[in-house]
Amino acid sequence: MSTRRELKSVAHALAGSFISRYNDLEGYWGLGVLCAAARSVEIDFSAARMEPPLACGPVLIDRYARLLEDQYRLRGVNPGWVKRVQLAVRFGVPIATSERPYGVRGEGVEVIVEIEDDLGRTRIARETSCCAPHDPAREARSARFPDSPPAFRFRPLGEPHLRLLRKWLLRPHVAAWWDRDWTVAKLREHYLERVDEPRATRAWIAEHGPEFVGFIQRYWVMGSGEGWWEDETDPGAVGIDLFLADGHRLGQGLGSAMIRAFLEMLFEDGSVTVVQTDPAPGNARAIAAYRKAGFREGGVVATPDGPALLLRCDRASFTATRPGPPGRLR
Ligand SMILES: CC(C)(COP(=O)(O)OP(=O)(O)OC[C@H]1O[C@@H](n2cnc3c(N)ncnc32)[C@H](O)[C@@H]1OP(=O)(O)O)[C@@H](O)C(=O)NCCC(=O)NCCS
Repeated sequence: MSTRRELKSVAHALAGSFISRYNDLEGYWGLGVLCAAARSVEIDFSAARMEPPLACGPVLIDRYARLLEDQYRLRGVNPGWVKRVQLAVRFGVPIATSERPYGVRGEGVEVIVEIEDDLGRTRIARETSCCAPHDPAREARSARFPDSPPAFRFRPLGEPHLRLLRKWLLRPHVAAWWDRDWTVAKLREHYLERVDEPRATRAWIAEHGPEFVGFIQRYWVMGSGEGWWEDETDPGAVGIDLFLADGHRLGQGLGSAMIRAFLEMLFEDGSVTVVQTDPAPGNARAIAAYRKAGFREGGVVATPDGPALLLRCDRASFTATRPGPPGRLR
């Protein structure tokens, strides 16, 4: 007959699975994704809450809550015995050479699971490994993710993209809303030469499956300078600007899906509180696309480039409008 002692094995199963490569977020190692976003993460399964509240939280909580249910069933554990299940991930912990897994780069990471039973006894399991922050430019997607529908990937803008970007900027559907004066040298200076500065504007080429479909840039709103956003006091506010490369693809849902995918990436950074954008008030298609992606209008504002419609999407409303747990492992 099962006893509450089985909870020790459940704790080990949860810690072992969470630290393993099977902890997979859309084809990438989940621990690397967490590592890129925070120095430590806590999940309280009893309250279904992750702290800090990262965008991947609902997926991980749902997946490992199901693992817990399976473990209870397998081991004959009465769920009524379980008062609290808590999982903590800490990056940058010292790791003995003997504990360092072969061929895994990065710093030490520990996963600690605590399960408290209804009699007040706590079982603890600890697993360690090494982990580097997730970087889509360096990592290949897991082979377990082959037949998913095309996903968006955002490739940091680099020297090889500049000519293509210049060509895109001259296309009529883009030039109608963007400055046409960008030479390759100006693009290089603006996007590449300052990219290592901590609050630099960064840009990405958006890929959808194998296709290059668009361009997106992200800037920090506060301290933009040159008369932009002088009232902003939130250091976590970021702004975005974007376009689709191909004029024939407009108005078919691609842009709003790309914006949504980009928000997922931006909110992985725990310091980002809100994302804003500022299309011209007459750019009805862009405004509709942002609204579809979850932005809400904040009114017309004066900018150095003329009037703009401010649209914002904060972390709470982004999280509230996410669909149910996507990216489930197959
Ligand atoms: C802005 C942009 C990325 C949006 O992408 P998109 O794929 O065209 O947008 P979506 O199809 O996802 O959404 C657009 C919505 O506007 C609607 N729409 C299309 N043309 C419209 C128009 N002229 N007026 C009003 N709504 C329009 C579409 O029907 C769609 O809504 P629906 O899906 O409810 O029918 C893309 O249009 C683009 O690159 N535009 C040129 C550059 C630009 O304006 N950039 C933004 C500068 S801030």
